[in-house]
Amino acid sequence: MAINNYLDLIASKENFHQRFTPHPLIIKLTNNLQKNSTILDLGSGEGNDSIYLAKKGFKVTAVDFSEKCIQKTKQLAEQNNINMKTINSKIESFLEYHNYFDAIICINSLQFINPKKIQETLDLIKSRTNQKGFNVISSFIAQNEIIKRNAKRNEMYLFDKGELKKLYQNWNIIFYEEKLGDWESHGGTPHKHYIVNLIAQKNAPKQDDFQELFG
Ligand SMILES: C[S@@+](CC[C@H](N)C(=O)[O-])C[C@H]1O[C@@H](n2cnc3c(N)ncnc32)[C@H](O)[C@@H]1O
Repeated sequence: MAINNYLDLIASKENFHQRFTPHPLIIKLTNNLQKNSTILDLGSGEGNDSIYLAKKGFKVTAVDFSEKCIQKTKQLAEQNNINMKTINSKIESFLEYHNYFDAIICINSLQFINPKKIQETLDLIKSRTNQKGFNVISSFIAQNEIIKRNAKRNEMYLFDKGELKKLYQNWNIIFYEEKLGDWESHGGTPHKHYIVNLIAQKNAPKQDDFQELFG
């Protein structure tokens, strides 16, 4: 089954992500974002992070290619009387427009980008980020070559260990970790992913200056 159809299928299930609290990276980010900051949520799913951010008063744009996900997010925004933009689009297509944001977040979505497009997509994400703006990424790591090859066959991209850190070497890396995630099932067999979490700031002062802020 093509990855787009697969994602639409799981999106059609009720509460398919079963995550109703913001991702921990998002809480870390918001503690340090200025009021009125613009935030782009790429692969926003049911909008858990988008809604949380919009409730906090940030100007949020949620992008997802699943119509069902976008509908759910819109519904949730309306129910909560929240003002935010919801866009039904592929991440890759949306980034072609010259829209710029103070923070771009990709929580569990970059693994679905075609391996042939990942470098270009990351370059665009960086270039669509305002000076001193943030990129926040949580994605998967391939623990070995077999896992990486299998993912590639499904047109999914898994980072190598240390790869994301290297890709952001010209930014100020504020938070970085690679670790085994929690048990999850999203309707199927329970499993754990090896994950990478990153918060990086564009053209910012050296990391030491931020340790106090981000802890
Ligand atoms: C695992 S979910 C994560 C959703 C959300 N960020 C969260 O953490 O709850 C991945 C989401 O990315 C979306 N997605 C995957 N590839 C995409 C692409 N190329 N363009 C737009 N959305 C995409 C899927 O439809 C799905 O909603």
